[in-house]
Amino acid sequence: MTTIALIGTGRMARGLGTGWARAGHRIIFGSRVPAEKTDLIAGLPDAQVTTYADALDAAGIVVITLPYAEVAPFCRAYAAVLRERLVIDISNPFDHLPDNRVAGAEITRDAIGPGARVVAAFKTNFWTTIPTPLTADGLQRDVLFAGDNEDDKRIVAELITDLGFRPVDCGGLHNARILDGMVPLIIELDQRYGGAWQASWKLLP
Ligand SMILES: NC(=O)c1ccc[n+]([C@@H]2O[C@H](COP(=O)([O-])OP(=O)(O)OC[C@H]3O[C@@H](n4cnc5c(N)ncnc54)[C@H](OP(=O)(O)O)[C@@H]3O)[C@@H](O)[C@H]2O)c1
Repeated sequence: MTTIALIGTGRMARGLGTGWARAGHRIIFGSRVPAEKTDLIAGLPDAQVTTYADALDAAGIVVITLPYAEVAPFCRAYAAVLRERLVIDISNPFDHLPDNRVAGAEITRDAIGPGARVVAAFKTNFWTTIPTPLTADGLQRDVLFAGDNEDDKRIVAELITDLGFRPVDCGGLHNARILDGMVPLIIELDQRYGGAWQASWKLLP
């Protein structure tokens, strides 16, 4: 069992938290307004919803599920503790990036500072698909992830597997630049070919 802090309590946090709790992990949600978010933890054994600071204190793995514009300020504010954690960045910058030569996850890493352990993951998975890692046709959806530390990526791959998805290691964190670009593209493809927010990227070796 791993204790996982999910920062933010929105659609992705709820899906990931529910899935990991069902897989036996302990989930601590961090919220700006924890008293208003207690419904989140109904039925999740040992789960808690608390402040950002207390969630960070309780867990060795931190999943940042904030809107992209909030991520770097959050990382700077909690840099000292985040340097001691494995950080999974799921946020999508869309047009917030100045150009395509840097990834949102690289900005997250730099905001945490020296020693940051950041893995980019789940960026290309719609929240609607998090509870259904298998499609109606029985195909296993992929979660693409990127990071610079092999040990950290092994941990993230296990967490992805625990949710029922297939982890696909996309290489170093610089490749998160490509993942960032795949997000608006899959939104366009989903609308073009179905429009039900059910599309996923799938690697067919
Ligand atoms: N939606 C998707 O399909 C999807 C897929 C992959 C990745 N992502 C990325 O994952 C992140 C979360 O997406 P989401 O769809 O789960 O977002 P969401 O439903 O809007 O939830 C975001 C959460 O962040 C917290 N928050 C902190 N500051 C905020 C602010 N200024 N405005 C709004 N919320 C704020 C809120 O929790 P509290 O109120 O408890 O503080 C809120 O519930 C985003 O960066 C997104 O790009 C989304």
